[in-house]
Amino acid sequence: METRVSTDVEAAVALLAADEVVAIPTETVYGLAANATSPQAVEKVFRLKARPASDPLIVHVRDAEAIEELGIAVPLWARRLMSLFWPGPLTLLLPKSERIAPQVSAGLPHLAFRAPAHPLTQELLKHLSFPLAAPSANPFGHTSPTTAEHVKRYFDRQIPLILDGGPCQAGIESTIIGEEKGRFILYRPGAISREQIEEVLGEKLHVRSTTSVPKTPGQFARHYAPKKPLLYGWKTPPIEANASLIFLSPPEGLNHSYLHSLSLNGTLQEAAHTLYATLHRCDQEPTEFILVQQIPSTGLGEALHDRLHRAHTRSVFTIGHSNHSWGEFLALLRRYEIGALVDIRKQPYSRYVPHFSQGPLQKSLHEAGIAYEWQPLPKKLPFTLSRALQEYLHVVILCAEGEPHRCHRFQLSDQLKQEGFTVLHILPEGGLRLHHAPISLELGEKI
Ligand code: TXA
Ligand code: MG
Repeated sequence: METRVSTDVEAAVALLAADEVVAIPTETVYGLAANATSPQAVEKVFRLKARPASDPLIVHVRDAEAIEELGIAVPLWARRLMSLFWPGPLTLLLPKSERIAPQVSAGLPHLAFRAPAHPLTQELLKHLSFPLAAPSANPFGHTSPTTAEHVKRYFDRQIPLILDGGPCQAGIESTIIGEEKGRFILYRPGAISREQIEEVLGEKLHVRSTTSVPKTPGQFARHYAPKKPLLYGWKTPPIEANASLIFLSPPEGLNHSYLHSLSLNGTLQEAAHTLYATLHRCDQEPTEFILVQQIPSTGLGEALHDRLHRAHTRSVFTIGHSNHSWGEFLALLRRYEIGALVDIRKQPYSRYVPHFSQGPLQKSLHEAGIAYEWQPLPKKLPFTLSRALQEYLHVVILCAEGEPHRCHRFQLSDQLKQEGFTVLHILPEGGLRLHHAPISLELGEKI
């Protein structure tokens, strides 16, 4: 199937009426749209995205009146929000309608609705006799698209039409709000800030979903993620030659081939507009991983922070010690903003480098504000790391450096990779190296 990219609304109307899937522009991100009243059409969206059936879709309508036409009783709080923010990047959880295909709400007690503000999609909705179920137009878990070209990269030859509305203005998904037992809930921070909504409702919003790293590896869902490992949360991302670097605003006097800033003037609005496009660009650069500076989590920043936190790869660093003086070692930990050190050496003392014995090590780390844990049992390591990663973004494993321990370090990396961790080695001379080959290949052996 050929994928056309055009502004042909009439063609989109005909395709959607025939239960086909069409990509549509919105002010937030591009959506993968289908007739929300047709189970077959909705099924196609789930299949294309490889999205679990348990993850519900947002229903896109022209305006508040279209909700009334579906026979839904809209509560007063929702009416107030609609009148102020629709059409716009706000999704509301409302009572269900019999007319909408049951797959759309995935068995949940509410249906999510929003009226997108993009003129092309508004025109499309005016010509349709049904609303559109539309998730973001990316395969499940991947970075959302903010241009027609991003969509084409994901779904070329899989959908008949992408309506090209240019780059999305807001650039980040809609805010999702609902009510449970008399309390207002923020299900997803988005392009309208929490503060804006709280002002209208006159009440604080409660947060439902958590942005913290889940408790067990199996629970971990990486979302909004580029293909490459992404490490978020640096006060100052280290200047690594093999990384794409993302800063909030242009850093002064820095020279690097793959340096990006989300906003020239440091505004969060501009940062939201450019974030996903920047992640798409980083994925295409000849680098191995992506390092992203921490975003302040107030106002629009809450949504940016949330997405980057979810895009963050579950990663650990390894570091050796016998080549280092204590000062060099500490400088490396600082450079990589390490929050916790897990010591996996079998002995709590070091005969050859006494300053790396457990006592002095623990004391110095404590003074440097770095948490310390001794875990000499390999079997318990993944659990210890998972727990440490709930609290600290950057966790390092301390091994003894030098042969044959170096070999041990690579073997350990293989094991951790199998457990789903991305492993980065902090080299003795500084610099990060991504572990991506089995030990025999890393050491230049033939298999
Ligand atoms: O800005 C947006 O909202 C974009 C554009 C295309 O409109 N759409 C979007 O859809 O981000 P999607 O599917 O990528 O994310 C929708 C989120 C999901 O996390 C889903 O769990 C939640 O909305 N959601 C949808 N219906 C829900 C419901 N009935 N109850 C609770 N959460 C719901
Ligand atoms: Mg999405």
